[in-house]
Amino acid sequence: MSEPIKHRRIVVERFGDADVLRLADAVTAAPRPGQTRVKVLAAAVGYTDVMARKGEYVFQRRRPFTPGYDLVGEVVDHQVDQAPAWLVPGVRVAACLPRMGGYTEYANLPVQALTPVPDGLDTSVAAAVPLDYLTALSLLDRHGRARPGEAVLIQGATGGVGDALCQLGRHRRLVMYGTASERSLHLLSDYDVVPIDYRRQDVAEVVRAKHPEGVVAVFDHLGGPAMRAGHRLLAPGGVLVSYAFIGRPGHVLTDTVLGVLRNRVLNLRPGRRTAICTLPREITADLPRHQRLLGDLFALALKDGIRPRVGGVFPLAEAAAAHRALERREVHGKIILQPA
Ligand SMILES: NC(=O)c1ccc[n+]([C@@H]2O[C@H](COP(=O)([O-])OP(=O)(O)OC[C@H]3O[C@@H](n4cnc5c(N)ncnc54)[C@H](OP(=O)(O)O)[C@@H]3O)[C@@H](O)[C@H]2O)c1
Repeated sequence: MSEPIKHRRIVVERFGDADVLRLADAVTAAPRPGQTRVKVLAAAVGYTDVMARKGEYVFQRRRPFTPGYDLVGEVVDHQVDQAPAWLVPGVRVAACLPRMGGYTEYANLPVQALTPVPDGLDTSVAAAVPLDYLTALSLLDRHGRARPGEAVLIQGATGGVGDALCQLGRHRRLVMYGTASERSLHLLSDYDVVPIDYRRQDVAEVVRAKHPEGVVAVFDHLGGPAMRAGHRLLAPGGVLVSYAFIGRPGHVLTDTVLGVLRNRVLNLRPGRRTAICTLPREITADLPRHQRLLGDLFALALKDGIRPRVGGVFPLAEAAAAHRALERREVHGKIILQPA
């Protein structure tokens, strides 16, 4: 019988600024049937973690909780009958956790949530993939259904999900328009995305100049007026896919509820669709499918079909500094936390 492991994890006991991220002692028991115990090698930081830390996340966890949707770890032991051949101690695995918990040194995870990380793929790069790329894949394939040569608009194209959309969109040979602020606009030249400075340019004017008929899909995380403007930019049969509703500071939850309602109301208009992507729900509904999709994404990364961007690596104990760097927009690319 394997022993419980004493270790440390980051916990949020009260909502607030980055300083509320506290390193705490924890114990991970021996895995229960169906579980694998994993020693975490890297966990990714996303804007969703910042929202959850502030108590502004729509799928808010009850406190105390450990943030973090993505992790890459090493299998320690497991209690899985008919385990797949790859599930052996020491092998690297990755997961997109449907209920967060990645900022930790050890975790017990259901085997269906784990995807082996192929040799040759860097651990930090692999940790940058799960949430952002699975979200982008869902936006493109499940909700957007854009075909090669068709035009799409990507709001926030240099953010975590935005970057994944641009990379997968390039791989699918989409014509892409991407919005970003001036400081990060240059990053879009890597992907053949038509850059639009959302503070200085009229987004609709730039898109309409080349695509007067409109675009087949708009991927939006802003909500509010941007959502209505995006809907007006759709070609007949096109779809506006919302995956967040950033909202006004201090009103994020209200603005999210309003955003969901607006999305539903816009969908009543004939000729164009709207949809909402919530990846944690999609993963919970079908773990094995997402396990496979993550494997496909890793294979694509190995072939250089996508190049997940790592912007910075911080020790797990410095999760607060990592959050501050993300909020100040000091880093381009995914921030990764590494246990000591
Ligand atoms: N539905 C899901 O399953 C799902 C999955 C993952 C994430 N999310 C949510 O999606 C949102 C984005 O996540 P993320 O990790 O990609 O965040 P991120 O890395 O912080 O990216 C957000 C991007 O939005 C851009 N932006 C800010 N204001 C803008 C505006 N007015 N117009 C256009 N772009 C603007 C920012 O660009 P600049 O820095 O250039 O200003 C930034 O690049 C978050 O709310 C997150 O919770 C949802």
